[in-house]
Amino acid sequence: MKAYAIANTDFVVSKIDDRLYGAFLEHLGRAIYEGIYEPDHPTADADGMRGDVAELVRNLNCPVVRYPGGNFVSAYNWEDGVGPRENRPVRLDLAWHTAESNAVGIHEFADWCTTVGTEMMLAVNLGSRGVDEARNFLEYCNHPGGTYWSDLRIKNGRAEPWNVKMWCLGNEMDGPWQVGHKDADEYGRLAANTARAMRMFDSSLELIVCGSSHSDMPTFPDWERIVLEHTYDHVDYVSLHMYFRNPESDTANYLALSEKLDRYIETVASTIRQVKHKKRSKRDVRICFDEWNVWYHSMQQDRAIRDGHHGWPHAPALLEDIYNFEDVLMVGLVINTFIRRSDVVRIACIAQLVNVIAPIMTEKGGPAWAQTIYYPYYFASVYGRGVALQMPVRSPSYESKHAAETPYVDIAGVHDEDGGTLTFFIVNRNPDEAIDTTIDLQGFTGREIIDHQVMTHPDLRAINTAENPMEVAPRKGAGALLGSKGLSLSLPPYSYQMVRLSI
Ligand code: AHR
Repeated sequence: MKAYAIANTDFVVSKIDDRLYGAFLEHLGRAIYEGIYEPDHPTADADGMRGDVAELVRNLNCPVVRYPGGNFVSAYNWEDGVGPRENRPVRLDLAWHTAESNAVGIHEFADWCTTVGTEMMLAVNLGSRGVDEARNFLEYCNHPGGTYWSDLRIKNGRAEPWNVKMWCLGNEMDGPWQVGHKDADEYGRLAANTARAMRMFDSSLELIVCGSSHSDMPTFPDWERIVLEHTYDHVDYVSLHMYFRNPESDTANYLALSEKLDRYIETVASTIRQVKHKKRSKRDVRICFDEWNVWYHSMQQDRAIRDGHHGWPHAPALLEDIYNFEDVLMVGLVINTFIRRSDVVRIACIAQLVNVIAPIMTEKGGPAWAQTIYYPYYFASVYGRGVALQMPVRSPSYESKHAAETPYVDIAGVHDEDGGTLTFFIVNRNPDEAIDTTIDLQGFTGREIIDHQVMTHPDLRAINTAENPMEVAPRKGAGALLGSKGLSLSLPPYSYQMVRLSI
């Protein structure tokens, strides 16, 4: 089989916003406790944060981390997590049927973000609370001092405001599972009022309104239209979520889910355009895809806790998906889709970062390691900065549940003009055949291959564990050639690869 693609220096999609490679941490399961925070761990710093986890996160060059939820935020009182630890209340977390100690709150999270070199994206509670909580939390975080909330922050040990720029107006408010779930008009009005109040404090904030929890929601895409009709002039992004599943072990259909993702993005992009024109607005609202990942491996085992059969445990193992090699391909395909749609998808957050549907796993008192999906996320985040190229691809294809023609070869190309590099992220969805691929390089001169990494494995179900953390890991690629026709390389069946050229 053969495939052919074109990369032309003049044909670009958009400058990629670095925040396309963001992540998410929720007070859920062992994400915070035993994830980033474990005071008794041998690598813990003075704040009780695990050094081994911080290092794995730092390596990801993660630009932004969304916090503190997720479903959790819709019944969260942020005030519970500030002040002396011994005075912080233990609360029931209704979203996950657990107990929350509040040992970690905004101060600890903010310090951790500094440690790992990332920025905070905060969510306000528009489920059980509203405008008042949002304005107080904002003042606590961003006002320099001399007011009740800002002075409380100073008293609690943080003199300088954090100046948090990105704020989510609630979480998945379209979902009946959400505490304080609302219909689109009700939520749209609340979000608009909250946004207006927050902008009265600082008009330069970047505000994110809830879109759909997934594209199969019965309210999709009317939800986006109605919510944006209320909020269009007051927000910057509409948030989307999507999780990818393969419960039937049907790899061909699973790997075609990125086609469904692409349609989801296109539908919301056109809804945004519709509302923009209806409102005769000059502003552009963009997409913040602030939850995405593979999530299905752990669903069954979580049921008992979520149904309340274990009482209200603190930080139990929940949503601990153990990722396999097949998921590497899926995550690579999702990120490639975001790169190709970076004109409209400006921010995205892999959900989540540690232990809970996460690229990083930990053992209490033991090691931290990279799950299989760590690598495609790592390569994109570290090397996918620059300008996304428009790349026509001619590839053999197959028929799937999600698209009549699903191409075997999926490519995203990123040109980093400042660094003088051209990087390709490539997935071969074909189960049996290698595909000889040529990328016609037009307008790029002085080319040399500087890195070539390949991920492939004879067993789609292969996983990484604490004992064997490198079972599924990238290996140096071989055989890529630069010639007069451009870059030629062979894509092994079921493979992910990254090729970088200096130009
Ligand atoms: O990331 C796990 C959960 O998925 C989040 O809490 C929620 O927003 C979504 O349904």
